[in-house]
This record gives sequence, C-alpha cells and structure tokens, in this order.
Amino acid sequence: MSYLLGIDIGTSGTKTLLIDENGKTRASKTVEYPLLTPHPGWAEQRPEDWWRATCEGIAAVLRKSRVKPDEIKGVGLSGQMHGSVFLDEKGKVIRPAILWCDGRTAAECDEIMAAVGPQRMHELVSNPALAGFTAPKVVWLRNHEPEKFAKVRQVLLPKDYIRYRLTGEYAAEVSDAAGTVMFDVKNRRWSDEVLEALRIPREWLPKVYESYEVCGHVTAAAARATGLAQGTPCVGGGADNTCGAVGSGIVVEGRVMTSLGTSGVVFAPTDTPQVDPQERLHTFCHSTRRQWYLMGCMLSAGMSLQWYRNQLAEVERAAAKKRKADVYDLLMKQAAETPPGAEGLFFLPYLMGERSPHKDPFARGAFIGLSFRHTKGHLIRAIVEGVTFALRDSLEIMKGLGAKMEQVRLIAGGAKSPFWRQVVADIFGLQIAIPANTEGPAMGAAILAGIGTGVFGDFLETTERILPVASYVDPDARRHEQYNEIYSHFVGLYPALKGHFGEMGKVLKL
Ligand code: XUL
Repeated sequence: MSYLLGIDIGTSGTKTLLIDENGKTRASKTVEYPLLTPHPGWAEQRPEDWWRATCEGIAAVLRKSRVKPDEIKGVGLSGQMHGSVFLDEKGKVIRPAILWCDGRTAAECDEIMAAVGPQRMHELVSNPALAGFTAPKVVWLRNHEPEKFAKVRQVLLPKDYIRYRLTGEYAAEVSDAAGTVMFDVKNRRWSDEVLEALRIPREWLPKVYESYEVCGHVTAAAARATGLAQGTPCVGGGADNTCGAVGSGIVVEGRVMTSLGTSGVVFAPTDTPQVDPQERLHTFCHSTRRQWYLMGCMLSAGMSLQWYRNQLAEVERAAAKKRKADVYDLLMKQAAETPPGAEGLFFLPYLMGERSPHKDPFARGAFIGLSFRHTKGHLIRAIVEGVTFALRDSLEIMKGLGAKMEQVRLIAGGAKSPFWRQVVADIFGLQIAIPANTEGPAMGAAILAGIGTGVFGDFLETTERILPVASYVDPDARRHEQYNEIYSHFVGLYPALKGHFGEMGKVLKL
C-alpha cells in the first residue's frame, strides 16, 4: 500500500493528514499556535511555531497509523495564502510573518498602484494591490523597518517556508505565488516588470513550479526532526483555497466551492483566466493542470463566530465543557430558535476590514437594528446570516461575470453545522452539496502529492473516485424570497457606514 502526507499550515493551527492510495484517512493531527496582534488590524505568526507544529503533527500521524516512513510516497504542502516570511542570507527568519488578514499596508497599496499604474497592474498580475497580499508587506518592511529590510535575501510564503525546512529548497508554486501580486497569473511566472517597478530583487523570490511537480526531497536533518524517510519527495502543493478545492472535487468549470473557514470564500474554477474588470474578485492560478479561478474572499467568516464565542459566550463555553459538547453546537441551537432575519438585526462581518468585494482595510464590524427583543440567539443568527450575505455579494458578482454554476459544494468548519448549511442554501437560493471528505486543504495537498509522484493519475478521475458527495441541502423557496428582501437592505448598510469607518480609523489612529 502507498501512503501520502498532506500538511496544511493554517491560521489557527497546522493539520497533518496521512491518507492511503484509496484516499482513506489513516491518521490526522492538528497542532494549534497563537495569532499575534501587536497593534489593532495587525496579524502575525512565528514561522518557528509552524515548523514545531509540523514536526509534532508528522510524528503523531506516524505513531498513530504505524505506517512505515518509507511507505509514504510523497508530501504535499498547503497553507494560508499571502503571508510573508522574510529570511536573511543564512536562511534565518528576520521577523514574525505578516499574515493574509493583516490590514497595515493601506498606504503601501497606494504606493504600489502609483508605481506600477492601475491599468498595468491589472494587465500584468490580474489583481490590484490589496492589504493582506504579499508585495505590500515587502514595501511596508522597507518603509517601516529599514534595518530588517536590509537583511532580507529571500521572501517566502508560509507553506514554502515549511518546504524549506523539510527539503532545504527555496521553491514556490503557481497557486500561492499568484496571491503575491508580483506574479503574472495569466502566464504563470514572476512579473519582472512589477518587481522592477517595486524595486524588489528578482533573486529574493524562489523558483516557481506547478502545484503537482516534485520540487525537493526530505533532508537528513528534517528526517531526524520529523520521523519521515530521508529523500521522500515533496511536491509544490498549493494555497489553502486551491487545496480545499482539489480536496472537495472542485477541479472542473461549473463546480463552485464555498468555504466557511476562518475566512469565507466563493471559488469558481475557469479554463482560461477570467478577470473582474472592477477587481472586486481575485483571479489566481488553480493547482490543477492549467486552470485558473475567480475568488471572492471575505476575511472574517468563522472568525466572526469565534470572536462571539470568545467574547460573549462564557456561559455556553462552561456549559459545553460540563456536558462534553461542542460549544458551536450550543450556539447554533440558540440561533436556530430565532426567525430568519433575526427580527431586524443585521451583522456586518468586517472585524478585520474587508477584501471582497469592498477592498477596504478600514471597514469594521457592526450590529445594526438592535432592540430590547433581541437575545443572544438573535446575535448569533445575525452573525451567521451576515457572513452568508457577505459571501452572496461575491456570488452575485460571479454570476454577473458569467461564471458557470452547476453545483455549489460547501466545505470547512461552518459546513459541519446543519443550521448554517440550510442558511447558505436559503440565502444563495441554490442546492448545496456537502462533500463526504471533511479533511479540508490537507486532503488536497495529499492528492497533489499523489498526482506528482504517480500514485494518482488525472485530477477529475481521482477526485470522482475518492471524494464522493455525502448529501445535498435544498433551499426553501419561501425563505429564499424572505432572504432576498433582507439582503436588499444588507447591501445598503456598508455604503452608508463606509465614510464613518474611515474617519473613526483616523480619530483612533488605527
Ligand atoms: C485568500 C485568503 C484566505 C487565506 C486564509 O485570498 O486570504 O482565504 O488563504 O488562509
């Protein structure tokens, strides 16, 4: 039997997954680490924490599965997109990595758009510079920490740093490189013109591979640290969103993925690069063979509910602990006891600013329409609905751009809740398919390892064989009508508040 390892460097933790050649999970382990927020709107992590979590995860799955290291035919890496790991000439980390949900670079985004020109940016990298993307972070380092900038010799994405620790190779792959806005997405290579305009040396960026190509082998030192066999091949892997898509069979045009993870995503594969002329959606490279995708990414999906759990659900957390239950099940039960529309309560889920479709790092969250009638259940329902309305914003833009939508598959944490699944079906007005595999991006990374090492063949054939759909959720026609009416009010709220968010940011010096 052949085995494959998928490792996903997520924002809340790293998940290591071992599957067999039939796609069956043999063992998995998630190791968590902190998110550092040294200033409001900033988000950082220590790359060493990712490496420690990776070593612990690999050791745990080897122990639990009793699979022999030399039976593992390949390793695939997946990870949070857009993060920046700055390394010095000795390959040492210079400062904590700045993450995808960090909003500090508004001024640097303007600087980049002015240096390259908005039209040229659109033509060269298919996306504008947005806070959270990688290039603005490099420019921020030059503007704010020049002594650290002077030491930089290599800029890596989070999972590519783990590759470096595993294989000793500096390498990137197309799906994650696409999110740097230094990458020519249409031609799948670094954009020399953008790098030159930003004065970022080309040699700071690693060689780029396709996601399924082998680009290194486990070194002796990494074998000692992890328990893997020296020489195990490591493929490019992919961004968490493309790996989530591969891991749920989103490998053909017409199948759309909605992901309710820390961030919320609507993702549509395309056989040719499609670019939103207004740049409300991103255009990046898919991890499959020569495909691209259109994506709307909202920053605080599961993170909004996690904020509620941490700040306002002390009683429910204690109750869940006592009953050995999942606190989210208790929260969803409270929400389900309130009617659609939460009796006039709206939630804007912009706790970390927003990417799609508003492109506004200064946006902030809000409850609107509070009255004495409202209970905690209403607040939770408003959060679930607000996040789903925000995803519908991206879905509507995709529809308007003519993206094919034959089937929508729902994945990640939020997909575990039958209540949230139904809210998605009702707000979208579409049937929602729930894939049987709930392993997330780590599964996609393991599949890429299988494709690259010859354990698996074609993407579609493999995913159809090993990743069935478990169930379908149909929309309720009456509730969909009701939600259409409520959504028509939701879309007016952000524009009404936009100016105030910006001003508040200045007053509070955020
Ligand atoms: C996508 C994005 C997020 C992160 C989350 O553009 O920023 O989905 O990849 O890990």
